Amino acid sequence: MPTNPYFFGADWNPEQWPDHVQAEDLALMREARVTAATVGVFSWSRLEPSPGLYDFGRLDRVLDGLHEHGIGAVLATPTASPPPWFTQAHPGALAMRRDGVRLVHGSRDTYCVNAPAYRAASLRVATALAERYARHPAVRLWHVHNEYGTWCFCDHCARAFRTWLRERHGTTAALDDAWTADFWSQRYTDWAQVLPPRATQYLGNPAHELDYRRFLSDSMLAAYTEQRDAIKAVAPDAQVTTNFVLGGWVPVDHARWSREVDLVAIDHYPSSLDGTPAQSAFAADAARGWSAAAGYDGRWLLMEHAPAHVTENGVQRRKPPGMLARIALAHLARGSQGAMYFQWRAGSGGAEQWHTAIVGHPGPDTRLYREFRALGETLAGEGRAPSYRSAYKKVPFLTDGPGGAGAEVGEGGSGARAADRRAEADAVAADGEGVAGRGEVAVWFDEVCGWAVVASHLPAPLDYQGVVESWHRALWRRGYPIDVVPPTATLAGYRVLVVPAAYLLTDESARRLDEYAREGGHLVVTYLSGIVDEHLRVRTGGYPGALRDLLGIRVEEFDPLPPGAVITLDTGDLATGWTEHLTAPGAVVLARYPDGRPAVTRREHGAGVAYYVSCALDEAATARVLDGICAAAGSAPILPDLPDGVEAVRAPGGVWLFNHTDEPHEIAGRQLARGAAAELTAE
Ligand code: GAL
Repeated sequence: MPTNPYFFGADWNPEQWPDHVQAEDLALMREARVTAATVGVFSWSRLEPSPGLYDFGRLDRVLDGLHEHGIGAVLATPTASPPPWFTQAHPGALAMRRDGVRLVHGSRDTYCVNAPAYRAASLRVATALAERYARHPAVRLWHVHNEYGTWCFCDHCARAFRTWLRERHGTTAALDDAWTADFWSQRYTDWAQVLPPRATQYLGNPAHELDYRRFLSDSMLAAYTEQRDAIKAVAPDAQVTTNFVLGGWVPVDHARWSREVDLVAIDHYPSSLDGTPAQSAFAADAARGWSAAAGYDGRWLLMEHAPAHVTENGVQRRKPPGMLARIALAHLARGSQGAMYFQWRAGSGGAEQWHTAIVGHPGPDTRLYREFRALGETLAGEGRAPSYRSAYKKVPFLTDGPGGAGAEVGEGGSGARAADRRAEADAVAADGEGVAGRGEVAVWFDEVCGWAVVASHLPAPLDYQGVVESWHRALWRRGYPIDVVPPTATLAGYRVLVVPAAYLLTDESARRLDEYAREGGHLVVTYLSGIVDEHLRVRTGGYPGALRDLLGIRVEEFDPLPPGAVITLDTGDLATGWTEHLTAPGAVVLARYPDGRPAVTRREHGAGVAYYVSCALDEAATARVLDGICAAAGSAPILPDLPDGVEAVRAPGGVWLFNHTDEPHEIAGRQLARGAAAELTAE
């Protein structure tokens, strides 16, 4: 049977079923050309039924079964869900909420990442797994934990936070300065006085809150690297990762974490059915950006997404026929090394029994399973459907992917190749060359800035990621080759760089943006950027303090509009939400507010240009402004005049088209059926 070069499969929990279901599942997986199954994610209470006593029987059979069927395992450590014996023995290792309530066992992710007992038990079970399975021929990738992101405010965290703060700030005097502690009498005279930002009477200190998120991110990263290193101590060649979950509530700085994983892996659960193509493109572009900035060449993995539904305001909306394949293929065209789903078989019980699965409660005789199997055949290059192999044929990783010939683990196995690839990637990442499918237009996305926005009590609420996504979406709809880049990315080479609502901007980031424009880039900065430093202290003297000279403007006041209010600029463009009062002593005014004040400006800077957009434009206006800037910068959409809902992606091997609409379209002389995906050109 032809093999499929991608990670194609799902989270699989055979331990929830009798043995004969495992055999049935394996046969179905093989039939559907599955190459990888994620196993063991929440199986701690089975693997270690009592402290230090392991029962690997079931997992042995699962891994052996996968191997016999030519399917790779993404083997998880089970530490996202400690068993009841653990929490009974260590009640102090349960997570504490901000309001001091200690959570109890009964769900998942109920642990304190800084509790020594939790860390010791996690390390022990991860080491035991590594010792038993590091050389198992089914294991392709290690998946540490699951979706790091748990909050805790307990005394273990308080102690660890103080240590972290000492390292970051040195003295309590420096802490007082960084946290503006003179406000509301918060000066600290002893480290022991510092607590996590627990529930307070009124508004909390933003700098305190932001440092706590940074601390949680570092705490979880330490827990991850501890397990990763334990695995690598047993099997230096092992490839290890963890699945990133996106969202403003997650205290994980994924750009920083990306350097610590062997393959950037994300889970993606969009929040709207109609918005899924755009949201998927954003998440995929962000994952590629993290990968590239971490020194890899832009490859990443879609580790989880839902097969059959999108939960929209609490309602599971069904994905229409064809969407399963189209969305998966759009991810592959954007650099994913595969399409993995949550989950393979729907549970008959348990909290997620109503989550959709490849094999639902009715069994495999369903449209969904048939669509999944057809996708497996497509990825394996069978049948009439287009093969996406060509899109990434130049990417060596795929030649030794999960179903590939070089997938054996052993001497000179995949881990050694990973190390070589990493060294090569480090060399090329310095100038951004060699990043598969690198775009021309970049959108700046800094999760720490999003935390800063949440922590601060701004003049009006701002959904940071929503603003970034709105700029990405405008570019995406117009079909520009886009990347989403973290502040550590290589900026040179992008024709246009859009920096939306970068409220927190470090001195270093401000310097890099200046350099980018000076050296010929077209920089677009929006409202509420460059306002505060890394400690959330406003850069005074007129906003945006960090970029005022570069942009040639000075903002005197913010003037957020009430909900529903719309302002028409002299260009006819509409602004909603946010406006500002500014002067433009060093810039040309491109658009004005009704009273004649500047709204959008442009300043030449060195060999490049810096634009400022002081208001929240609606999508049509955003697109119009971007079209003008991109044209001036020499960047054009991949294909002109794409109909709404038709997506073009420039993959390394050629251009791919995705018709997310219910109608057929003719694109560049090519018929594109409704809901279809097709390769337009191949190199
Ligand atoms: C993910 C999680 C999975 C499952 C899934 C449901 O965030 O990693 O374990 O809960 O959501 O959508």
